Amino acid sequence: MILHTTRTLPRLSRLTPNLQCPLRRRNTRTISVQRLSGSIGAEIQDVDLARDLPENPGLVQELRESLLEHQVIFFRNQNLEPQSFLTFASHFGKPIEYPFVRGIDNFPAIIQVLKQEHETVNFGGVWHSDTSYFEQPPMGSILLAKEIPPFGGDTLFANQYAAYEALSEGLKRTLSMLKGVNTSAKADVSKTREDRVRDSGNANARTNYEAVHPVVRTHPETGRKALYVNTAHTARFEGWTEDESAPLLQFLVTHQVKPEFTCRFCWDVGSIAFWDNRCAQHYPVNDYHGFRRRMLRITLAGDKPV
Ligand code: SIN
Repeated sequence: MILHTTRTLPRLSRLTPNLQCPLRRRNTRTISVQRLSGSIGAEIQDVDLARDLPENPGLVQELRESLLEHQVIFFRNQNLEPQSFLTFASHFGKPIEYPFVRGIDNFPAIIQVLKQEHETVNFGGVWHSDTSYFEQPPMGSILLAKEIPPFGGDTLFANQYAAYEALSEGLKRTLSMLKGVNTSAKADVSKTREDRVRDSGNANARTNYEAVHPVVRTHPETGRKALYVNTAHTARFEGWTEDESAPLLQFLVTHQVKPEFTCRFCWDVGSIAFWDNRCAQHYPVNDYHGFRRRMLRITLAGDKPV
């Protein structure tokens, strides 16, 4: 059972699962879900991922349902070491390697998302869906906060079902016929990888990846339609030049991150965000120059968008 609570009752919502289920049985679990905004994002409370998941196989299903419903789910106080982080992620899919940056020691599928005190560019600091330039982009990504700045460094998320559904029927019809050419080479985003490629780039770090995907994709699990272009990676529409594509693309990338489609997550050490790249985009805010922010990230294999 999933309990939905509102933001006005944070303390009660923390307590509710225990009140309802004082004797939590093995394989039985009730999670408490607190929405972050009207459109996207929910915090899952009263879960200790390292302890509870192995004991409660049903919990994985509940969390997956929450992810499908809210597009991104958050947890707090999960101070997972790399092996526990990998084990947690593996409950939901197959961890895959990121093409540009080496994984941390002994964990090739875990990369550091790092900005150091002297750096001014943050990794991935452009609205995007992860590696949409792959033929099979990752279904989801999971970020675990290890070091955070004293202020700032939040991450925004945008609901791409809502962005699609808000379009006119006429534009939806036009978009249903278009495919987007996604590339890893767009300068605005490739420059956000440079610091990490310099200190931990892998052998493929200079490869350009390109993939053509429908501009509107159908989510393989929910069956809902979502906009699937993003300003970081989508260069043009297939069969159109970049100049021809620019006005419509510009409209879409502005539209798809309107505040009413978004939520904002403020990190603590031990916080986790798990987002669904098939229907959500994210944007890490770069407002903490002079301070260090270090996260661990795992991406999970996905399928070809249709
Ligand atoms: C990313 O794009 O994976 C980084 C997100 C973040 O640093 O908040």
